[in-house]
Amino acid sequence: MSTTAGQRATAAPGGWFATAYFDELRRRVLRPSAAWPAPAGGHAGAAGRTSLERLAAGLRDAAAACGVGLADLGEPLSAGELIALGDALGEVIPEHDPAIAAFVEQACVLNLRGTGLRGGRAFDMRFKPFTSEELLLHTEGSLRAEAERPRWIILQCLREAGDEAGVQTITVGMQGVAARLGSAAVGALRQTWLAGGSGPVVTGEPPVFSFRDPAVSGDVFESAHGATDPRDTVGALLEALYEPAAVRAVPWRRGTLAVIDNTRVFHGRTQGSEGERRHLQRVRVRMPTPAGGAGR
Ligand SMILES: [Fe+2]
Repeated sequence: MSTTAGQRATAAPGGWFATAYFDELRRRVLRPSAAWPAPAGGHAGAAGRTSLERLAAGLRDAAAACGVGLADLGEPLSAGELIALGDALGEVIPEHDPAIAAFVEQACVLNLRGTGLRGGRAFDMRFKPFTSEELLLHTEGSLRAEAERPRWIILQCLREAGDEAGVQTITVGMQGVAARLGSAAVGALRQTWLAGGSGPVVTGEPPVFSFRDPAVSGDVFESAHGATDPRDTVGALLEALYEPAAVRAVPWRRGTLAVIDNTRVFHGRTQGSEGERRHLQRVRVRMPTPAGGAGR
């Protein structure tokens, strides 16, 4: 593939990466029978629920070290406690979208449960989290400017003990993705950005990615990098991202809390089956703004 340097390459209908080759990469990781291992570390000590501030600090530090911080509380936090945990980390982001208002508690807690909804061509993507379908790997808020992106995603499991759930919340570490890509490709991604996005795919050191699998919305990319076509660069990123050996799954059981560091890992979800009684709650948190930032 080739384009003139500095120009945007246009996507074919259905996107650049809606091909059998890339679909097979995705399927290896997101297939319904996948059973990925839990992270080797990331447990946040024994602060428990008696001090939400200490619990938040333990989860934040574990997420910084391992990409995901984990705690098993036995019983889930209330919606109010979950928001307080978010307040202890940073600035909790409200769920503004009226389309999903029926799933929102106390303005900021999103209930992620299977609804029996099915996707399809004309499906409203905002409801995808409430289906049993897979969620392609992404960083949260990848279209937003860095300061507006969630830094942490808090999830907790409310599933009743004994309910089986085949769906797995999965993560892939960014440092490993960068290592598989190599420095030349990471350098090219520092000069590649999602058309309509707010910044390059990679910033910082160690590299922080802001990226969603373009098959979600047929995204196209632009490049200022003289020697590379953004289709090649983003294709290499997808190959490094969907690496089965790098996939870790949150070991959900009732009362498990997970804090995903959105600057350390990509996340997604494997495909589930109809009628699964899964139930997670989600609170998104961004870094606190120094003064007068937009609150909820
Ligand atoms: Fe997400």
